Amino acid sequence: MQITELQSNEQNILQSFKDKEYPATDNEHYGDNIPDFTEKEFTLISKESEVITGQIHIVIRYGIAYIDSLLIGTEYRGKGLGKQLVEMAELKAKKDGAHKIWLETGSTWSARGFYEKLGYTVRAILPNDVGHQECVLMDKML
Ligand SMILES: CC(C)(COP(=O)(O)OP(=O)(O)OC[C@H]1O[C@@H](n2cnc3c(N)ncnc32)[C@H](O)[C@@H]1OP(=O)(O)O)[C@@H](O)C(=O)NCCC(=O)NCCS
Repeated sequence: MQITELQSNEQNILQSFKDKEYPATDNEHYGDNIPDFTEKEFTLISKESEVITGQIHIVIRYGIAYIDSLLIGTEYRGKGLGKQLVEMAELKAKKDGAHKIWLETGSTWSARGFYEKLGYTVRAILPNDVGHQECVLMDKML
């Protein structure tokens, strides 16, 4: 048995292997409730006079939405824009089939308090995470 890195011309045989092997495993894991494995992503932006003031990027995998990034322009913070973007993203993610949304943020960052205010719960502490900082994993049911 040899282990090699997948080459671009081997994509088709890999897909055939997965198509053949996954159904039995999915059945063992999920029974009749097979999640939607389609990946979706979207970005919402806020603008004032054609200038971008904030953005949120969401990735949905296996029916779970992930807040990949959220950024409000410094001069627009503290005015409810972050809350508006997150709430609109939650609604769209739910429409797109997600039943839950999650994110990671620094455990001492002010974003943690912001997400707690919006109903997110800390589910795990992630030591030595991005930038070797302690982070938290937070989620919310949609
Ligand atoms: C974190 C961030 C997205 C918040 O956006 P914002 O527009 O400043 O926040 P909002 O004004 O919408 O705040 C919404 C609510 O959360 C509250 N809130 C905000 N920060 C808070 C904190 N640190 N602790 C407690 N509550 C907080 C606000 O008081 C407000 O409450 P209200 O609805 O009762 O008025 C924004 O500051 C930002 O872009 N920061 C830099 C990038 C970042 O940290 N992104 C997230 C990394 S994962």
